[in-house]
Amino acid sequence: MSESVKMIADQQPQLADQFRQAMRELAAAVHVITTGDVNQRSGLTATAVCSLSMEPASILVCVNKSASAMPLLEKSGQFCVNILGQQQSSVADVFAGRTGCEAHERFEEAGSWTPAWDGVEMLDGALANVVCDLTSAVESGTHVICIGQVKEVRLASGSAPLIYSRQGYDTLLSTAQTSAAV
Ligand SMILES: Cc1cc2nc3c(=O)[nH]c(=O)nc-3n(C[C@H](O)[C@H](O)[C@H](O)COP(=O)(O)O)c2cc1C
Repeated sequence: MSESVKMIADQQPQLADQFRQAMRELAAAVHVITTGDVNQRSGLTATAVCSLSMEPASILVCVNKSASAMPLLEKSGQFCVNILGQQQSSVADVFAGRTGCEAHERFEEAGSWTPAWDGVEMLDGALANVVCDLTSAVESGTHVICIGQVKEVRLASGSAPLIYSRQGYDTLLSTAQTSAAV
């Protein structure tokens, strides 16, 4: 092993810890990614979501390869990004597997759902539901970067976004005050 490779290997545990701590400072909007259709559906909570392109309208989501929703995501080739409002942290907990219910029970456990045109579940009351076809899946480390081309959007308004920061839920105070004032 060269000296520089050995140095990096020795630093790995510390680097991983520092990276974890740094990511706790990265406040992010919370989403539930649903996939499949009304006959076979699955989902997970995710913050690793990013708007990607306007032409074509597309979005990316980073999903752990080990997530229970991953096989159905690849098989069905479609998913919906449900952008959560500040009142929906209980839905986020259920779809993060924090409440102990089985993956297939999550839809009954939390939220009310309306199928999109192609059958993928949209969370009622979310700030927006963005329904996509999976156009590309790129493996990177433990995760798969899932790129989706947007095919349907449903919008709601009035609520402030649910934010995850420093291992807890939060919201944007300015948006919450504006929403309350409307
Ligand atoms: C706030 C929050 C954000 C998360 N973001 C992601 C994410 O972006 N990608 C991901 O793969 N998992 C993410 N997770 C973890 C998954 O929600 C969780 O591992 C999954 O739903 C449970 O795995 P299972 O479906 O295999 O039981 C997040 C969890 C929480 C609580």
